[in-house]
Amino acid sequence: MTSGRSFYITTPIYYPSDVPHIGHGYTTVAVDALARWHRQAGDDTWMLTGTDEHGQKMLRAAAANGVTPQEWVDKLVSESWFPLLETLDVANDDFIRTTQPRHEDRVQQFVQAIYDRGYIYAGEYEALYCVGCEEFKPEAEILDGTGPFEGLKVCAIHSKPLELLQEKNYFFKLSEFQDRLLDLYRSTPDFLRPDSARNEVISFVKQGLKDLSISRSAFDWGIKVPWDDTHVIYVWVDALLNYATAVGYGSDPEEFARRWPAYHVVGKDILRFHAVIWPAMLMAAGVDVPQGVFAHGWLLVGGEKMSKSKLTGIAPTEITDVFGSDAYRFYFLSAIPFGHDGSFSWEDLSARYQAELANGFGNLASRTIAMIGKYFDGVVPSSSEPAEADLAIRSTVADAARLADAAIERFRIDEAIDAIWTIVDALNGYITDNEPWALAKDPAQRERLGTVLYTCAEGLRALAVLLSPVMPESTAKLWAALGAAEALGELTSQPLREAGAWGQLPAGTETGALAPLFPRVEQPA
Ligand code: ME8
Ligand code: MG
Repeated sequence: MTSGRSFYITTPIYYPSDVPHIGHGYTTVAVDALARWHRQAGDDTWMLTGTDEHGQKMLRAAAANGVTPQEWVDKLVSESWFPLLETLDVANDDFIRTTQPRHEDRVQQFVQAIYDRGYIYAGEYEALYCVGCEEFKPEAEILDGTGPFEGLKVCAIHSKPLELLQEKNYFFKLSEFQDRLLDLYRSTPDFLRPDSARNEVISFVKQGLKDLSISRSAFDWGIKVPWDDTHVIYVWVDALLNYATAVGYGSDPEEFARRWPAYHVVGKDILRFHAVIWPAMLMAAGVDVPQGVFAHGWLLVGGEKMSKSKLTGIAPTEITDVFGSDAYRFYFLSAIPFGHDGSFSWEDLSARYQAELANGFGNLASRTIAMIGKYFDGVVPSSSEPAEADLAIRSTVADAARLADAAIERFRIDEAIDAIWTIVDALNGYITDNEPWALAKDPAQRERLGTVLYTCAEGLRALAVLLSPVMPESTAKLWAALGAAEALGELTSQPLREAGAWGQLPAGTETGALAPLFPRVEQPA
């Protein structure tokens, strides 16, 4: 059931040397929700995530643990990074590791191609390097150290001393791409989103670009430069190429043509790599630039960017163990305008869990299923001539479905959820206004009672479909309780862009039991 429209979307490939925290989880669930939406809408969807395994940071971590870098990454990836996807209920289509031969061979092929096209030269280099960033730092991100680092230069991001490196390096002629990049940003406004990201990159590129050092010879944990095996390819060049090698660049032209170009979702910390270096590399190789790059904001904890190195890191399991994976997904995707920073707090998470999930959506589902059980022996009643209030619900559902799809097109998952939530609020108000428990007392109102409960059940049908990309687990439970699996088939095969069409759940469908979708939780200490 694909429309032919390709939708290929990626997360950054994370450094496995850090343990996964809620920042990594945030990007990953956002991409997963977008991919699930498009997949269920019938687009030819592919979601990629993975790990960035080379570089000096990894080499040092392995040495500190007394094992080879490959042994060390294998352990980290299988103990921490694969399980993250389970924890967060992520339905990725592929997982790339940059130490896989399918990647390494194609990286060499790509770098050789841009070398052959004259975009690489050898030179001497001396600059300050941050191993945390895996980057030679620009002036603006170099600070004078204080306290224990007095007299040293430190990285503005990691607050750790920079290392002076002097090497023979190979350079990529990034400076030649300034005009072509500016043309790209101008001619394709959606290439960089949101606008704040686009503006930042444009002003950065307008100041002029320096050529980029793309090889290192001081250590060997990386992919060898194909024409000089005393050098390894700079870890960021290696890493960015994952997006192409994973879908068949250089090995499977048909697959590559089908998938490429991609949409990249990244945190704003790594925007420039994706918005400047990556499209320039592709231009140099004569490969299409990405469809677009969306940079989301930072999760802040206690007002600071959350990170493991600053000891503000929170593991996703700390949240999912208490609230479940759906609540994790819902919370981060609805509470933070996508593209802006957002502050995480346990208080805010618990409050929203209680108000929006337990009392709002969960209670609506429980009440509706319970009343159909009690008043109609668990069989969805038929609807008679609709009253104004019923028609209002139908149009709320139709509008919500349309607005949500439009918001997803703009990558605004938060706005999509807001639109969908108008159905939850409208149905809860509708139940209060129509008092089905009062109608049930009057046999003359039997038909009206049926219409009211049909309206609730059909509204929940639409909600289950529209919310399934964000909350796959609870919507599947609701789907089963509505009896919709029997009547309509699997939840994930319901066409998303038709979710707003009224009257899909047939009267006569047998409902089942529904345990509370969002049970009361013990407050974490
Ligand atoms: O940069 N708030 O990997 P990385 C929101 N390997 N998102 C956050 C976050 C926070 N506080 N902290 C991390 C790398 N993230 C490279 C990427 S891609 C070719 C190579 C998320 O492990 C966010 O997506 O440091 C950010 O961009 C990413 O983790 C950085 O992950
Ligand atoms: Mg990082």
